[in-house]
Amino acid sequence: MSLLIKNGEIVTSGDRFVADVYCEGETITRIGRGLEAPKDATVIDARGKYVFPGFIDPHVHIHLPFMGTYAKDTYTTASQAALVGGTTTLIEMVCPSRKDPVLKSYELWLGKAEGKSACDFTFHMGVSRYDDVVEAELNEIVKSGISSFKIFLAYKDFFGVTDQELSNVLRLAKRLGVIVTAHCENADLVFELQKRLLGEGKTGPKWHYWSRPPLVEAEGVHHLGTFAQMHGTHVYVVHTSCEESLHAALRARERGVNIWVETLIQYLTLDMRDAERPAFQGSKFVMSPPLRDVRNQEVFWNALRQGMVSTVATDHAPFDFKGQKDMGKADFTRIPNGIPSLEDRVTVLWTHGVDQGRLNLHQFVDCGSTQAAKLFGLFPRKGTIAVGSDADLVVWDAKYRGKITARKQHMNVDYNPFEGWAITGRPHAVTVRGEVAAKDGKFIGTIGRGKLIKRDPTHF
Ligand code: URP
Ligand code: ZN
Ligand code: ZN
Repeated sequence: MSLLIKNGEIVTSGDRFVADVYCEGETITRIGRGLEAPKDATVIDARGKYVFPGFIDPHVHIHLPFMGTYAKDTYTTASQAALVGGTTTLIEMVCPSRKDPVLKSYELWLGKAEGKSACDFTFHMGVSRYDDVVEAELNEIVKSGISSFKIFLAYKDFFGVTDQELSNVLRLAKRLGVIVTAHCENADLVFELQKRLLGEGKTGPKWHYWSRPPLVEAEGVHHLGTFAQMHGTHVYVVHTSCEESLHAALRARERGVNIWVETLIQYLTLDMRDAERPAFQGSKFVMSPPLRDVRNQEVFWNALRQGMVSTVATDHAPFDFKGQKDMGKADFTRIPNGIPSLEDRVTVLWTHGVDQGRLNLHQFVDCGSTQAAKLFGLFPRKGTIAVGSDADLVVWDAKYRGKITARKQHMNVDYNPFEGWAITGRPHAVTVRGEVAAKDGKFIGTIGRGKLIKRDPTHF
């Protein structure tokens, strides 16, 4: 199997030049001008188009038992959605509850992916409890190729860890050279505010924001930073939504904490007014931390440009409007939290980032792919275009004009948060390890070809 992508403008986080890319089997083997390919090679004419490294979504939920229901996608649907949108590798959160056994949970999540995914994948291993058995099992999981953990400071008594557990996880992670990703919100404050609001008869989706204001998130980030400082562990704040939290992370960084920041495409483009839409439509925009005041968006675009925020992820967590979001019709605390966006992250980032002059091409690649690869031990196999890297490539059509609509999406959910939005570019062709898996909005890949990408601890 060989693939030749001809005359495209190759863009990585650091380089930009016109060349051909030749791939043999699963790997890029030559980059240069005027490359020849055997007669049976697949040839893609990329003249007038960009060629980007496959995009990486470092925060996705597919199998997610949560708030009395399950997220809607399977690997079959989610990986097709990812590929059509230009994402060739995703990192899913394994999310056992406090009651679930750790190793068995990892095997359960892995079983949902292997043989069913069309794109490559790996996991952040969720830790929601800590004891000797958990520690031994985490050691095994890291040895098997999973080099990042996930903890929740929110969702008390379900996913959430106590401070003692937080401390133990960070100590173990430091010893193993593992980075810890964290959902940062103060669980006790959320609980108290939820009780107060419901007691005042404030039950609709818009009150979700007021139960989790910026201060509650910023406290979580400061908390994580303090514990990480104690242990010298590398930490990564997932779904950072507001200026207050960003400042808490940057202050920790000033103190020497190895802390990185992820934001989401939703926070860059949607805002708290979406959760105020009438007729319960606002529930489609309920996630945690909540969508924020619109003024935060420019802060995050600027922070991305300056490298203060490393990655743009989705926290893809699809729950249907009918039958799932409406479980919270009488009580916003029962609305399943999550806003789907795996399929649209890259095109919306392009349209609102690059096309509107907020990001240059290198910044687009960096925050959509390269930084995730570097932070989570995938680089240079993923996240760049280089001889020896996996042939995960996105040939980008910047002349395409279209509209997002749930009617045409591959994500298995009954709405799209960006319904009707214009997009000003999309993938023309997407390859995973040398196979063309999507073309002009259509999935043409192979279900089950996606691989678990094993990662070594980084030790930074
Ligand atoms: O609202 C969200 N973020 N749902 C998914 C679970 C999580 O907190 O990441
Ligand atoms: Zn979260
Ligand atoms: Zn999440």
